[in-house]
Amino acid sequence: MKPWQLDLNADDGPPGNGERATVEDIRVLREQFVDFMLGYKFAIDEITTKINILREDFNNTHEYNPIEHVGSRLKSPESVLEKVQRKNYAMNLAAIRENVLDIAGVRVVCSFISDIGTIRDMLAGQEDITVLEERDYITHRKPNGYQSLHLIVSIPVFRSDRTQRVPVEIQIRTIAMDFWASLEHKIYYKYRGEVPPNLRSDLAQAAEVATQLDEKMEALHRQIDRTAQPRTHPAETLDLSVLYHAFTAGAPHR
Ligand code: GTP
Ligand code: MG
Repeated sequence: MKPWQLDLNADDGPPGNGERATVEDIRVLREQFVDFMLGYKFAIDEITTKINILREDFNNTHEYNPIEHVGSRLKSPESVLEKVQRKNYAMNLAAIRENVLDIAGVRVVCSFISDIGTIRDMLAGQEDITVLEERDYITHRKPNGYQSLHLIVSIPVFRSDRTQRVPVEIQIRTIAMDFWASLEHKIYYKYRGEVPPNLRSDLAQAAEVATQLDEKMEALHRQIDRTAQPRTHPAETLDLSVLYHAFTAGAPHR
């Protein structure tokens, strides 16, 4: 199918069904596609903000930061259309919205294995987040060694003229899992998917070592945790006048 035959607007009229599109049609299609993609960009912004809030709040409450790094990517229009073509989905926005659930992607890299479940539960428990799909490649490691927890969630995005629910793929993994995945990705691309058997077995072994490291670090972390001082409970009704005097002592009046 040629690009000018893309039926990105199946709901109302041309261009479609193999009709030739005019320059005006292409302009309209492009505008609608940009608007469509913008919803996913906003969804990434929202999820990223949520994760940054969790990171800061967790750090403040527990004096510990379970999140090492947050990254995100918006699939390029070319990759979206390439996936639609490859998977044989219909070439219209409604079908893309329904079938391509990884246009918005957010990756959370955690310090320890146990943080993955913590982050997952904190996100899944939020009122405006709906978990559509969950794949646990940690309990069920992929044959090549890939490990990660994948969630497809949907969140409401409040646009200027409407509210839409937008899916976002969230990958949660440890530093060791992330290190492994980025190297495997490079190797996979270098060999265009045909990774030689010796490299494949080396990668599988490296995945095993990564798991051992994660387990060792987790055990160490637990030991330190046990000796850590518990934080005092917040006391909403405590008299704040001591704090008032501490803040205002010597401070010039405004
Ligand atoms: P796609 O058609 O690529 O979306 O795959 P899928 O719908 O079967 O989902 P899956 O959970 O297998 O993979 C989604 C994403 O996880 C990929 O786009 C990668 O970012 C990551 N991923 C999955 N498997 C691997 C792997 O073997 N190696 C690496 N490096 N990343 C992986
Ligand atoms: Mg994908």
